[in-house]
Amino acid sequence: MTHDQEPGSPSGAPLPEGVGRTALGVALARAVESARPDRLFDDPYASVFLRAAVAAENGPRAPRAERTDAWAAMAAHLVLRTAYFDDYLRDAVGPDGGCTQVVLLAAGLDARAFRLDWPEGVRLFELDLPEMVAFKERVLAEADAHPRVERHVLTADLREDWAAPLRAAGFAPEQPTAWLVEGLLIYLDAADAAALLDRLGALSAPGSRLALVRDGALRRTREMARRDPAMAPATRLWRGGLGRNQAQWLRAHGWLVHETDERQLCERYGADRVTDGQGFLLAVRPSPAESAERPRRAAARLLVLDPDGSVFLQLHHDAEVGPHWVLPGGGLEPGEAPLAGALRETVEETGWTDVVTGPELWRWEHDYHRPDTGLVRQHEVIFLASAPHRDPVGDLTASFAADGILTCRWFTPKELSGVPEVLWPPTLVSLLEDLRRDGPPTEPIDLGYVPNQYPGAE
Ligand SMILES: C[S@@+](CC[C@H](N)C(=O)[O-])C[C@H]1O[C@@H](n2cnc3c(N)ncnc32)[C@H](O)[C@@H]1O
Repeated sequence: MTHDQEPGSPSGAPLPEGVGRTALGVALARAVESARPDRLFDDPYASVFLRAAVAAENGPRAPRAERTDAWAAMAAHLVLRTAYFDDYLRDAVGPDGGCTQVVLLAAGLDARAFRLDWPEGVRLFELDLPEMVAFKERVLAEADAHPRVERHVLTADLREDWAAPLRAAGFAPEQPTAWLVEGLLIYLDAADAAALLDRLGALSAPGSRLALVRDGALRRTREMARRDPAMAPATRLWRGGLGRNQAQWLRAHGWLVHETDERQLCERYGADRVTDGQGFLLAVRPSPAESAERPRRAAARLLVLDPDGSVFLQLHHDAEVGPHWVLPGGGLEPGEAPLAGALRETVEETGWTDVVTGPELWRWEHDYHRPDTGLVRQHEVIFLASAPHRDPVGDLTASFAADGILTCRWFTPKELSGVPEVLWPPTLVSLLEDLRRDGPPTEPIDLGYVPNQYPGAE
C-alpha cells in the first residue's frame, strides 16, 4: 500500500463524525454476516473496525439501530450488495473483464483490498474523507493488515475535484477501470452526484465498468428507515443523489447500463437473501469504434390499431436505450419481405392470426443494444394494420422471453401522450395524429436516422 496523501496521525485518530459514521453501519452488517455459517462473504476486518469504534467511544455500546425492522431490512440489503459488488469486482479484473485498475469512491471501511484475491498487476485506489481515512488506516495498521493488491489511499471530498489527485497518485485514464460507487450517491445532491459521474466518465477508457445501486432501489426500506428515529443519524444526511433518473443519466452520458433486479439474484445468493431493493446497475463504457461501426439490422413492424384507434405496444428494455415501447414485429429473416416478416413476428408475439395488414407508413433508423450481438443500427419499416381489441392469445412466455418483451398493452391516443418511457419511433404520438387526420401517406414517410433520446436525464 502507498499513501499518496498523508492520511493524518496514525495514532489517536478520532472516530469519523457525520457521514463517515454511516460506514460503521455497513461494517456492522458485514460483521454480522461474516459470523453466519451460511455467510455470503467473509469480512474479518468489519468486526476489527467495530471493536476499534467501540473503544474510541470509551464504552462497549454497539452501534444503535441494531434491532429495529428498518435496520434488519437495511442490513439485509447491505449484505446482498456487498456480495454482489464482490462478484462484480472479481469479474471486472478477471480474464473477461480486463480492467487493470479499481477505484473505490467513498471506500469507507471497505476491506476488499485485504480480503479478496486480486490478479497480478491490478492497482486499487480508495478515496474518502480525511477523517474516515485516518480512522481506517490507524485500525488497519494496528491490526497489522496487509493488502493483497497494490493499494493507494487518497483523501478527497468527492464533491470537489478528485480527478487531479487521483491522476497524481498514478491512476492511468487510458486503461480500463472498474469503478465502485457503493453507498455514496444518496449522500450527495443531484448536482454533486452528476458532477461526480461526469468526472468519472471523463476518466473512463473504453471497457471501463461502473457498479452502483439501482435508482429507486430500496424505496420501502428507505421509507421504513426514515420513520425509525434510531436510523436518523444516517437518514437525515440523505440527499437523494440522481434518484430515479440515474440509469437514464448514465445512458445519456455514454454508458451501456445493465439493470439487475434483485429477484434475478435468487439463484445466485438464495431467495431468502434477496431484499425488497430494486437491484443494481452495471454500466460499461463502449469503445468509439463499437459505437461507430455498428452492424446493420433490418426489421419490420405493424402499427396495429383497434376499431377505436388504440395502438398495441410492447415494453422492452436494453442497455443503451433503457425502457421503451415498441410496435409488434422484429428482425427479418434472410430474404424475407418486410411485410411478411412483420406479420410473422406479430403472430409469434400475440397469437393473433386475424390481423389485417395495410400499406407501408413510415421507415426509420435507430440505435440500440442487443444481448446477442451488442450495439446495432436498425433499419425499420412500419406497416398499418388492424385487429380487434384483446389481449394476446395463448401461452407466449417463451416468445416474450426470446424477444425480450416485458409486457404489452393497448394505449388510447390520450394514454399514449402521457407515457413516460421512450416510444419507438419517438415521434409516434404526432405520427398517429397525422395518420388520423390525413389517412395513410401516398408514399411511405422516411424519418431518417433518429438519435436516441433520454427524457429526464438532464
Ligand atoms: C455508507 S458509507 C459506504 C462506504 C463504502 N463504500 C462501503 O460500502 O463500505 C458512505 C461513505 O461515503 C463517504 N462520503 C460521504 N460523502 C463524501 C464526500 N463528499 N467525499 C468523500 N467521501 C464521502 C463517507 O465518509 C463514508 O465512508
